[in-house]
Amino acid sequence: MSTPARIGIVTMSDRASAGVYEDLSGKAIEATLSEWLSSPWEKQYRLIPDDRATIERTLVELVDETRCSLVVTTGGTGPAPRDVTPEATEAVCEKMMPGFGELMRQVSLKSVPTAILSRQTAGVRKQALIVNLPGKPAAIRECLEAVFPAIPYCIDLIGGAFLEGSERAPKVFRPKSK
Ligand code: MTE
Repeated sequence: MSTPARIGIVTMSDRASAGVYEDLSGKAIEATLSEWLSSPWEKQYRLIPDDRATIERTLVELVDETRCSLVVTTGGTGPAPRDVTPEATEAVCEKMMPGFGELMRQVSLKSVPTAILSRQTAGVRKQALIVNLPGKPAAIRECLEAVFPAIPYCIDLIGGAFLEGSERAPKVFRPKSK
């Protein structure tokens, strides 16, 4: 048996982290990945306030120490003063992957005109891909569905764990090697 891939699920929310409401978005990420991944994986869950230093520290810890291959964040992507997830993501990444945000906004725009308010992005730090999703629970599946097919191959290219999609998942695409 191969060792399970580690996947970080990070919710940025002042209110959820203070216990004002339940973190439904983090739960939606876990439920979606459980349904869509057939290879073994292990959840590394963090619920933190919208504080830039805390976000950066959490992302660095998940990648450098916990050795996650994928970190999916939710929340803090909008224009409000406390929304700083994309800035924190960019600060800790070596390479940005702008195609993820472009595609997720395009897909989300079909259901909500306010999708353009999300500055969600993605980037690579070491062996990990970090992907931002908006904070709305309804946005989770919609956004992940759009980008999921490219995630395993991206992680192959950066030396992370081998992820396989389940029968129910949007079909994972790995270009054939020459
Ligand atoms: N994307 C999807 N798919 N569904 C949504 O409901 N909400 C938008 C946008 N993207 C939304 C979405 C709204 S209203 C905002 S303000 C931004 O995401 C930022 O949300 P966040 O600050 O919670 O990350």
